[in-house]
Amino acid sequence: MIETAPIQAGTQSELTREMASRLQTALTTHLMQAYAPDYSKALRTFSATEAAELLGVTGQFLRKCHSEGSIPEPGEIRGGRRFYTAAEIREARRILESGSRKPGKYMPGRREGDKLQVIQLMNFKGGSAKSTSSIHLCHYLALQGYRVLAVDLDPQGSLSGFCGIQTELEFDGVSIYDAIRYEDPVPMRDCIIETYFPGLHLAPARLILSEFETETAISAGRGVSFFDRLTSALSTVEQDYDIVVIDSPPALGFLTLTGLYAATAVIVPMTPSMLDLASTQQFIEMTSAYLEVFESTGVNLNHDFFSFLITRDDPSDIPSQQIVSLMRALFQDRVIHATGLRSTAIGDASMLKMTIYEVARSDMTRTTYDRARTSMDAVGAEIAGMVQAAWGR
Ligand SMILES: Nc1ncnc2c1ncn2[C@@H]1O[C@H](COP(=O)(O)OP(=O)(O)O)[C@@H](O)[C@H]1O
Ligand SMILES: [Mg+2]
Repeated sequence: MIETAPIQAGTQSELTREMASRLQTALTTHLMQAYAPDYSKALRTFSATEAAELLGVTGQFLRKCHSEGSIPEPGEIRGGRRFYTAAEIREARRILESGSRKPGKYMPGRREGDKLQVIQLMNFKGGSAKSTSSIHLCHYLALQGYRVLAVDLDPQGSLSGFCGIQTELEFDGVSIYDAIRYEDPVPMRDCIIETYFPGLHLAPARLILSEFETETAISAGRGVSFFDRLTSALSTVEQDYDIVVIDSPPALGFLTLTGLYAATAVIVPMTPSMLDLASTQQFIEMTSAYLEVFESTGVNLNHDFFSFLITRDDPSDIPSQQIVSLMRALFQDRVIHATGLRSTAIGDASMLKMTIYEVARSDMTRTTYDRARTSMDAVGAEIAGMVQAAWGR
C-alpha cells in the first residue's frame, strides 16, 4: 500500500529516509503494475532490406544465398517476406566471412595481435548525451558483428536501463562494483550479463557503485592504488570482446578516472551550446590535471584517439552551429565529422529505453526515422573506422 499521510518525522535524516522509502514503494508498485509479470526486453526482427544493408550485400545476393542453401532461411517468413533476428544476421556474417576472400569483410572484429579497444565516453556535464551515445554506439557495433562489452560506470545506471536492467527495481544482483571493489572483489566474468541484444554484454551499474568513490578515498589513505581497478578486471575477460564501451557518470571522480586509465580511446560528447562549451573547457582542464598526476607516477596513458562528438546537433539553430564551427576550427580532426542529430525519434525511443536501432521504421514518420538512423550510423561508422585504424587497417 502507498502511504499518503503527512510525514511525521523528528530529524532530517528520518524525514529523508521516510521520503526515500515512500518513493521506493511507489516506484516498485507503479513499475510492477506497468511491466510485471513478464517485463523483459526483446529485440525486433529486421526486414530483408535491413539485413542486406547491415551485411553490406545486395538483397539479390542474400536471396541467392538462401536459394543455394548457403545461408539458412530465417525463422520468420510472413507473406513471402523474410524477417531476421539479430542472431540470424550474426550467423549469416559468420558464414559469409568463412567464404570471403577479404578477411574482416563480414566479421570486422579483432584479429591475432589486435589489442582490445576500450572506448570511454566522458564529460562531467549531465545531459551531454553520454549514455544515449554509448548505447547507440554499442548497438551499432553489435549489429556490425563486433563483440561488444558495455560497462556502466554511472551509479544512476542509464546504460544498464537501456540494456533492460531496471536498477530502480532490482536492488541487488551483480554489478561492475563487485568487480572493482577493494574487499573480496568478484571475478569480472561473474559480473557480466548477456543482454537481449546479440553481440552485446553488459557489466551493469547499481546504486552501490557510488560507494567506490568513498572506498577509494579510504583505500588511497592506506596506499592502495585505485586507477587500475577496472583495467585489471577487464584484463580477465579481454579475449571475449573486440570493443568495450564505457559510459561515465557526470563527474570527474574516481569512477571516471579508473575508466580513463583503462581506456584506449576517449570520446567527449558535447552539446553545442555556450554553457556546455564552458563546462567542457573546465572538464578538459581538470582531466589534464589528473593526467599529470598519472604521468608523475610514471604512468603514460597513450590513447589511440581523444575526440569530441557533437551531440543533439540542430543544423537549423544558428548559434549552436557557430559553436560547432568553432570546435572544428580549434580541433580539426579531433571533432568527429558525423554528429548526433537532435531528433524526436531518438528522444522518444530513449523514453522507452530504446535506441533508434530497436524501434521499427514503420512505427515512426519515415523521414524522421531515416534522418536519426543515418546520423547514428554515421557516428558509429566513423568511430568503427577509428578503431580499425588503431588496429592498423
Ligand atoms: N540525438 C538526440 N536527440 C534528441 N534527444 C536526445 C539526443 N541525444 C540525447 N537526447 C536526450 O538528451 C537527454 C540526455 O541524454 P543522456 O544520454 O542521458 O545524457 P548524459 O548521459 O550525458 O547525462 C536524454 O533525455 C536523451 O533522451
Ligand atoms: Mg548518463
